[in-house]
Amino acid sequence: MALQFYGLILAVALVRGVAASSEVGAGVSGHGQTAPRYARVFSFGDSLTDTGNALHVAAGPASRPPYGETFFRRPTGRASDGRLVIDFIVEALGVPEPTPYLSGKTAADFRSGVNFAVGGATALDLEFFASRGLKTFVPVSLWNQTSWFSDVLHHLGSVEEQRKAVASSLFIVGEIGINDYLVALSGNRTVAEIENAFVPRVVRAIRSDVIAAGARSVMVPGMIPLGCEPQLLAQYQGAERHDPESAGCIARLNDLAELHNRALNRMLIGLRRAHPGTAIVYADLYRAVTDLVVSPRKYGFKDMPLAACCGGGSGPYNFDAAAFCGSPGTAACADPSEFVSWDGVHFTEAANRRVACALLDQSDGAQGIKLMGHYGARAP
Ligand SMILES: *[C@@H]1O[C@H](CO)[C@@H](O)[C@H](O)[C@H]1NC(C)=O
Ligand SMILES: *[C@@H]1O[C@H](CO)[C@@H](O)[C@H](O)[C@H]1NC(C)=O
Repeated sequence: MALQFYGLILAVALVRGVAASSEVGAGVSGHGQTAPRYARVFSFGDSLTDTGNALHVAAGPASRPPYGETFFRRPTGRASDGRLVIDFIVEALGVPEPTPYLSGKTAADFRSGVNFAVGGATALDLEFFASRGLKTFVPVSLWNQTSWFSDVLHHLGSVEEQRKAVASSLFIVGEIGINDYLVALSGNRTVAEIENAFVPRVVRAIRSDVIAAGARSVMVPGMIPLGCEPQLLAQYQGAERHDPESAGCIARLNDLAELHNRALNRMLIGLRRAHPGTAIVYADLYRAVTDLVVSPRKYGFKDMPLAACCGGGSGPYNFDAAAFCGSPGTAACADPSEFVSWDGVHFTEAANRRVACALLDQSDGAQGIKLMGHYGARAP
């Protein structure tokens, strides 16, 4: 167990190296610095993290060109022109790329980590939406993902081997919840209703089974600034108050995201108390994305951070729900690396790289140091 705590400290040290290299534009590579801290990653979430599961559930836009054009040169199911935040994080930590659960076939496929995230997935169960007359995007919730995790765990050997595998893994739980809110919005629920009836339930759903399973290291990304999403900006154009201090984002939707994040943080404080042996790090996606939107030039983006790169739209957001990126007659911008938003909903590889750097940098900040202090005394 002491070794495990020691591993966490080294991870923080490794992350420090990553932050330094990102400043000189070297990307987020932690290779060759030291042995990987974690044996593998288990990740849960939605299209911001899905590296190939949704392809097996429904052939969404990410199964078609120009998705993947920048890095993979083909669609991989990732909702971006290239890599996702999770890709950059596993690269920086020097752990293997987790296998998308629905494309894994044998136990061996799962030994080096599994990604359970599915594009369109909700935090809340399907019955919750059905009973309220709401239609989800895909028939997958966080419950499905954690039950898949239980299946995988059983394939990893004896109870003792399972315990060891879990203890040496990094769990990344989220971002999850955005689809719960999008489903509610498309069913004409007001933001106030969502805040009262959905947010507390979503946060309870995230209070995850994985910790009961014995996880030692968990990263929990929060909600993105919903009000800066080109899709929602286009949908509510003119109807919503825009926040002049937030680069033209919709204040009410950003408030919702911040409410979610505050509730999530309160829950995590309780979880840390209940599981003192588990390192639980909140990853501030909201701040990471907002920084790009507020100061695009500083990070190498064009001065129009609220416009999508790909799709058939026009106007300030370059978004049209009827001509979504990947459908006939749509096209990508010439240089996706100048855009924060890839398709009006998801981010470009360039933005994902920046966000990954910011998250790793954050975990080297207050929380990382706190973790070091907390576990330092017990390290060898
Ligand atoms: C997810 O779980 C629900 C039961 O809550 C089930 O109806 C659905 O088919 C599951 N989805 C998948 C893709 O297995
Ligand atoms: C939501 O409201 C709009 C306009 O009031 C209406 O056209 C649409 O049918 C409603 N959608 C649902 C799912 O109730």
